Amino acid sequence: MTVRKVRKAVFPVAGLGTRLLPATKSIPKEMLTIVDRPLIQYAVDEAREAGIEELIFVTGRGKSALVDYFDMSFELEATMEKAGKSLAPLEPSRAGYGEIASVRQQRPLGLGHAVWCARHVVGDEPFAVLLPDDLMIGKPGALKQMIEAYEQVGGNIVCATDVPRDKTASYGIVTPGAASANRTEVLGLVEKPKPEEAPSTLGVIGRYVLQPDVMRVLDAQEPGSGGEIQLTDAMARLIGKQPFHAVTVEATRYDCGTKLGFVSANLALGLADPEIGEALRQVTAGAK
Ligand code: UTP
Repeated sequence: MTVRKVRKAVFPVAGLGTRLLPATKSIPKEMLTIVDRPLIQYAVDEAREAGIEELIFVTGRGKSALVDYFDMSFELEATMEKAGKSLAPLEPSRAGYGEIASVRQQRPLGLGHAVWCARHVVGDEPFAVLLPDDLMIGKPGALKQMIEAYEQVGGNIVCATDVPRDKTASYGIVTPGAASANRTEVLGLVEKPKPEEAPSTLGVIGRYVLQPDVMRVLDAQEPGSGGEIQLTDAMARLIGKQPFHAVTVEATRYDCGTKLGFVSANLALGLADPEIGEALRQVTAGAK
């Protein structure tokens, strides 16, 4: 079996982010900050750590701030330098992020459709998908842990976690096969099943390593659950044809697409921050 290197990562960032309204009326969800940096930067840093060389953003209406964020801000830097201010807060964006491409999803037709919009830039090679609103804090990062598994078994890998039975309708759920170490063979995938119909409680979260063949399945543009073109449905069609595994990683996940997850991430990372952690502990201890 030849396992081809994963060099490209797709970041679907064209969703509407309705659960975080009104903030997301004019700010892309992925630009909301956790402590001092936007969600997208955490995802990009995780991808770079995993060896990704080319970043592909799938953007939509009102998301240009997100692509601009990765440009060098010449005017800002020159003004700061002239005023004698430190440029340290702009690191590491000044060092550059490698190749960046952005493609447009003209209508938010679903995650599967967003990934399909990147098909020409992805080409005929394996690729990663990272959903930046699923913030994963781990050492090494979640994608790096998944790529280590991928290098052993090849094929397709989804990141998975045990979810409460009453929450299965919020996830793609795995029909599990043989398991060893942190890997479980995937025998089936179903998008958002009701708790009583879910084949397990192993839920897929926002990290994937996929073979390019998934794009050919997505060509059909078949709507699934909720009328959206689902990545889960397309991935399910590859099961049995190519190796397919779910990997559980050692990382803490914050679902920053929800108010609770977003605020929890800010608190947890704020408390762990060397600069503000101690002062924040005192503030939260005083809060009734
Ligand atoms: P979500 O299910 O979180 O949807 O998408 P959303 O639209 O962003 O947020 P809500 O549910 O309205 O609050 C999961 C990921 O897929 C992307 C989103 O940007 C997010 O990263 N996505 C979703 C797209 O890029 N395009 C779509 O059509 C749908």
